[in-house]
Amino acid sequence: MIRLTVHENEKKATISPEIYGHFSEHLGRCIYEGLYVGEDSDIPNEKGMRKDVVEALKDMQIPVLRWPGGCFADEYHWKDGIGPKENRKKMINTNWGGVVEDNSFGTHEYFELCDQLGCKTYINGNVGSGTVQEMSEWVEYMTFDGESPLANERRKNGRDKAWRVDYFGVGNENWGCGGNMHPEYYADVYRRYQSFVKMYDKEKPINRIACGPSDFDYDWTEKLLNRLFTRCFDHLHGNLEAISLHYYTLPHDWDYKGSATDFTKEEWYTTLYKTLKMDEIVTKHSNIMDKYDPKKILALVVDEWGCWYDVEEGTNPGFLYQQNTMRDALVAGINLNIFNKHCDRVRMANIAQTVNVLQSVILTEGKKMILTPTYHVFRMFKYHQGAQLVNSFLTGVEQEGTGDDNKVPQVTESVSVSEDGTVNITLNNLSLESDKEVEIDFDDLKVSSVEAYVVTGAMDAHNTFDDAEVVTTKKLENVTITDKGVKVVLPACSVTGLRIKR
Ligand code: AHR
Repeated sequence: MIRLTVHENEKKATISPEIYGHFSEHLGRCIYEGLYVGEDSDIPNEKGMRKDVVEALKDMQIPVLRWPGGCFADEYHWKDGIGPKENRKKMINTNWGGVVEDNSFGTHEYFELCDQLGCKTYINGNVGSGTVQEMSEWVEYMTFDGESPLANERRKNGRDKAWRVDYFGVGNENWGCGGNMHPEYYADVYRRYQSFVKMYDKEKPINRIACGPSDFDYDWTEKLLNRLFTRCFDHLHGNLEAISLHYYTLPHDWDYKGSATDFTKEEWYTTLYKTLKMDEIVTKHSNIMDKYDPKKILALVVDEWGCWYDVEEGTNPGFLYQQNTMRDALVAGINLNIFNKHCDRVRMANIAQTVNVLQSVILTEGKKMILTPTYHVFRMFKYHQGAQLVNSFLTGVEQEGTGDDNKVPQVTESVSVSEDGTVNITLNNLSLESDKEVEIDFDDLKVSSVEAYVVTGAMDAHNTFDDAEVVTTKKLENVTITDKGVKVVLPACSVTGLRIKR
């Protein structure tokens, strides 16, 4: 029998709401069509932002949105995206399909979107092909409230007050598309660029994020931090708040990733097995960070994660459009539980990418919009945002898979306690074979009521524009209150959320 032991009084750390963050790049139909349709569109919009999409993202409680890239960020010149739209310079989006970018969605539109969403802002600056001056001026344009040529230009363009930039990324993937740099070289570049990310309003500090590693590249983390922490950066805590980490789940490899919807049981387990690697990756990078920053002042920001498959047939290969099934729901549930468990170090994560690109929470087609299984998981997990992670562990869990190299635990979990004392438990049943009964035991807590919701279906179940309700959130009936806590039966291939009141 599987038992989940919860020490509800052993609080570990706060689960930063930003762990439930999102990422939107100028890539395919994410920004254009997905989020922004322009004021003249016949798709209902407010100031150009799709109303249906904004409503759905608010309901899911989106806490932060990263923009404008991704690889796009390192070729983005912000001045091309301000002022009257008809005068905005066009550019070629060299990373993503070679299409023409008309810059109709720029800085003002981004802040309008975040305002409508009620979420924090995370801007990614251009280090790869941009100058220090360009970056510095962007920061001034956005955040300086006094009199200056750039602040006045912002006013001329319709925005009087300075905006708040909560997070600022100094480059993206500078080991790859952002300039193919060595870690030591990037560290020096970071030191220089961040010096000019000025904090004009000390009350509203900008959290600076340096480009961290890709997946298993521990060498990058070691060399980056080593170089950053020498000479005058000994007091690094005034110059850097976080490093990033990117890890995508690919069922196979970069040459053949596999289909989003047409896959075997073996691919199911392999995908989940690879997703679970996130735990090892985060742990090992955190261990390196601990050497330099034992008090864990720096955050690890997993600002790109999610499944990456071959694009849907007949779509532009540069647009990274893919469907989303129950397999993605499990990938989301597994990753989010891992981030919760590491919330002392992981203080932001951004799934790639919000709408119509990679593991999206929303897909659109003209006026139609569907919520993906991943969306339902994010909405179910939202109660963890800002709650306290508590000590919990499973016993009696066996491993399952189709071979020795893709064995996964049948169940994973995380548990938090909200301010009002409600206990939030999220459980994934990774098994395709069987339902799993889980006994949940508390130390002292006496349960008065339980609400239980589940996202479940066949492994390849997904929503389409003709049938948007194949995978939804349903009430889970198979839950009973026991002397020690709660007993629940998790359907095979499911993600479950419990809200337990005392
Ligand atoms: O999310 C798609 C791309 O993946 C991003 O632009 C880049 O940062 C990463 O390689």
